[in-house]
Amino acid sequence: MTADSENDIKALKEIGRICAEVLRKMMDAVRPGITTGELDDIGRGLLESRGAHSAPEVTYQFPGATCISVSPVIAHGIPGDYVLHEGELIHIDVSAELDGYFADTGSSLWVSKRSPEIHKLLEATKSTLMKAVNVARAGRPLNEIGKTVQNEAKKRGYNVIYELTGHGIGRGLHEDPREILNFYNPRDPRILKDGLVLAIEPFLTTGRGRIAEERDGWSLRTADNAIAAQFEHTIIVTKSEPIILTA
Ligand code: CO
Ligand code: CO
Repeated sequence: MTADSENDIKALKEIGRICAEVLRKMMDAVRPGITTGELDDIGRGLLESRGAHSAPEVTYQFPGATCISVSPVIAHGIPGDYVLHEGELIHIDVSAELDGYFADTGSSLWVSKRSPEIHKLLEATKSTLMKAVNVARAGRPLNEIGKTVQNEAKKRGYNVIYELTGHGIGRGLHEDPREILNFYNPRDPRILKDGLVLAIEPFLTTGRGRIAEERDGWSLRTADNAIAAQFEHTIIVTKSEPIILTA
C-alpha cells in the first residue's frame, strides 16, 4: 500500500510497534528446554493482549501464530513440540494485523551458546538489512535494494538466498510490489514511490543459497543444509530516510 494519510501512518506505526515488541519478548524467552510451541504461545498471548491478529494465520491459515524455524529451516517453520537446545540457530518471524493494517518483522538468533561463525553471519545479515533499508528512497530504483543486499553479502563472503524475497505490505501481508529480490535484477524497471510500505528481508547463507521445502508443506530449509540468517523490517519509503515501523 501507499501510506498517504496521517491516519495510515499512525495505524502502521502501531502495528509495527506491536510486532517489534512481540518479537523482542519472544527472543528474550528463548532458552534451552523451551519448545517452539511454548514460544509461539507467548507470541500469541501478546498479540491477543494488544488486540492484534497473527497475519500468517488470517492470511494463509498457517498452523501457528508466528513462524519459528530451527536451522537448517530458514523460513515458515511450524511451532510445535520441538525442544530447543543450546547452540542452535533459530529464526522468529512475527507478522500481524490490527484494524486492517499489517506489519512484518523477523530476527535470527542462537539459543544461549555463542559461536563465532554464527555471530559473524548474524552481524553481517543485520547490517545488510540496515544498508538495504537506507537505499529505499522515493524516486530511486527498487532494484537497488537487491543490489545492496547482494553486494553486502558478497563483501562478507556469503551468498543470498535467491528464492526468498521482500514484499509490499500494509493492507495485507503480501502486496504489490511483489518479489523485492535479494539480488540485483538489472531488468527490473520499478521505481520506489513516496509512502510505499515495504517489508525488506535479506537472507544470507554460507551455502549456495537454494531452498528446499520440507514434507510438512510449509518449512523451507537451505537445500544444502548450510546455516542462514534473516532479519526483516517493515518500512515506509520517503524522499529521505525511511520510517522503520518495526524498529
Ligand atoms: Co516476515
Ligand atoms: Co516478510
